[in-house]
Parts: sequence; structure tokens; C-alpha cells
Amino acid sequence: MIQRLPFSYEGIDGDIQQLGDLLKNSFSAVDLNTDENFSVLNLACGRADETGVLVEALVPVSVGFYLGIDLRSDAIQEATRRWTSTDCEIHFMEGNAAMLGRMKTLPEFDLIFIRHQNYWHEPMVWEGILDEAISAMKPSGYLVCTSYFDLEHDLFKASMRERGAKLILNVRNAHSRVLPDADGKSVDRWLGIWQKT
Ligand SMILES: C[S@@+](CC[C@H](N)C(=O)[O-])C[C@H]1O[C@@H](n2cnc3c(N)ncnc32)[C@H](O)[C@@H]1O
Repeated sequence: MIQRLPFSYEGIDGDIQQLGDLLKNSFSAVDLNTDENFSVLNLACGRADETGVLVEALVPVSVGFYLGIDLRSDAIQEATRRWTSTDCEIHFMEGNAAMLGRMKTLPEFDLIFIRHQNYWHEPMVWEGILDEAISAMKPSGYLVCTSYFDLEHDLFKASMRERGAKLILNVRNAHSRVLPDADGKSVDRWLGIWQKT
């Protein structure tokens, strides 16, 4: 992945490096299936600042197709300006993740990543998003998310359990940066990895 622009805010670099380490350790702990050239969906990606470390953390798995999707056009435009690749097809798209099933040209995904999932904020919306995400995964696929706070992570886990997905790794990030103005919240506080079957 080639990063063409610096990050927009001071401090993002540090958070992204921490996330990269967390992802690398987590992927090696679950021993991802390495047979495939992965197709990756970064769902509700915002600016997708983690694009570089996510792809790097997957090595030795290579990524052949990478798509970021979010409702926010400003964030999608910024991600498009920042990231490019000579090794993989990469796209950022303004769109509703609850409508993935209607986007007929998408491949099935080996890995869906959701950084700072937002289940607590809009549970019914996220129920729909998770249905669509699971349908968009290959049978052998993985869903990986991070969460800002404990209750939201628990709600997400319960929702995935209801869908029959198997939690294969659940990690409290010991290096998560505390958000001083949000009690109990910290950056990439939890990480979970599920398999569809
Ligand atoms: C907590 S932010 C996380 C953004 C980014 N992943 C990050 O960690 O910086 C939640 C994101 O979900 C996006 N979002 C909410 N509902 C969505 C939907 N139905 N489809 C696509 N994106 C959605 C919002 O626009 C927002 O960017």
C-alpha cells in the first residue's frame, strides 16, 4: 500500500502503529488460511487510516482486492486521495453497508474489517449491517472488529453469537490510548475475530 498523504491529525500515527501491532499479533494467533489472495472489505471505514497497517498485518496473506465503504463522502474522498497500490485493486466507495447485498458486482470477501464498530449508537442499523456483512463473506471468511468501549463490544459479540458466527479470538488491547473526554472509552480497546462457520 502506498500512502500518498500524511494523516490529518497529530496522534493518528501512534494509534495506527499500535493497531498494526495488535492486528499482526492477532492474525498470527489465529493462523489465518493463507491459501488465498484475499479480498478485503473495510466496512464503515471512515477515512480508512488503517488501510496500510491492515494489509501489512495480513502478510504472508496477500490482498488482491480491497474496498472501503462508508456513508460519509468527505471521508471517502480523503481515503481515496491518501491510499493507492501497485499490487492490489483498491477502491473507496460512498455507500450504505446495510445494502451490500444489492451491490451485485462485489466479490465474496475473505475478510471484513470494522474499526470502531458503532453498534451501541444505532443497534437496529447495525443488526442490518451485520446480516449483510455475513452474507457478503465467503464460507471460510473472517470478520474482524475493534470497539471503543466494553458494553458496545459485548453487544456486538452477542449479535454475532445470535447469527451463529464463531468467536475465535477476543483481545483487550493493553496499549489502547484512553480518550480523556469519554469515560471508559479508548482507541481500539477491544479486538474480536469471528469465522462465519
Ligand atoms: C465510529 S465511526 C468509525 C469510522 C472508522 N472505521 C474509524 O475507526 O475511524 C463509524 C462509521 O460508521 C459509518 N457508518 C454508519 N452507518 C453506516 C452504514 N449504514 N453504511 C456505511 N457506513 C456507515 C459512519 O459514517 C462512520 O464513519
